[in-house]
Amino acid sequence: MKTEGGTDEAKRRAGERAARAVEDGTVVGLGTGSTTACAIDALGRAVADGLEIRAVPTSFQSRRLALEADIPVTELDAVDRIDLAIDGADQVVDQPAASAHGALIKGGGAAHTREKLIDATAERFVVVVDPSKLTDELDRSVPLEVLPDAHSVVGDRVRELSGEPTLRDATGKDGPVVTDNGNLVLDCAFGAISEPGDLASRLSRIPGVVEHGLFVGLADATYVGTDDGLEVRE
Ligand code: 5RP
Repeated sequence: MKTEGGTDEAKRRAGERAARAVEDGTVVGLGTGSTTACAIDALGRAVADGLEIRAVPTSFQSRRLALEADIPVTELDAVDRIDLAIDGADQVVDQPAASAHGALIKGGGAAHTREKLIDATAERFVVVVDPSKLTDELDRSVPLEVLPDAHSVVGDRVRELSGEPTLRDATGKDGPVVTDNGNLVLDCAFGAISEPGDLASRLSRIPGVVEHGLFVGLADATYVGTDDGLEVRE
């Protein structure tokens, strides 16, 4: 079965492989999305078999999945470290020779602010994806979480950077997506992003932007699940 470009099997292989790396005593950051959900499922089974971990979720969704799987959940300010974060991505640069290798676009689930906090805090951050997420150059829209009354002024600043902002609508509802933090999301199309680090710095400097979905230089490894195997990019 295919979901948003990748198969369930590929996502399962990536998520399960990441979960297998979790050892007793680990504090795990749990990302958001369908691929991470496979890792959470696998961790739940391991916990039922005796694995002792604590998990710091990145969203309401991942917190709920963890609780359903009987994984002990804690808060960022209740731990002294996060050993490993497991998280998905919407796009990953897969060009070992390029400086942007491993750069990500995240935020398809509108959870990228907390995801960046947890992923960047972790000692090791592993990205779990299927091959449909790999690209030579980032070119998807970059999600910006914005303060609600800032969305139009932030939109103007994005246009000054040659981007085209679209306020994300909630599917099936008459209104915008509201994040776990009570903010809105602007999906900003920039075309091909040749210098993600530079764009990331510019977006971070816009007042009213809570966080953007460019993750540059954060990932330690990418686990790419396929229908019949798994590839690891370090
Ligand atoms: C949520 C995210 C997700 O990790 C990203 O959208 C990938 O999700 P999926 O594994 O369902 O394709 O960034 O904010």
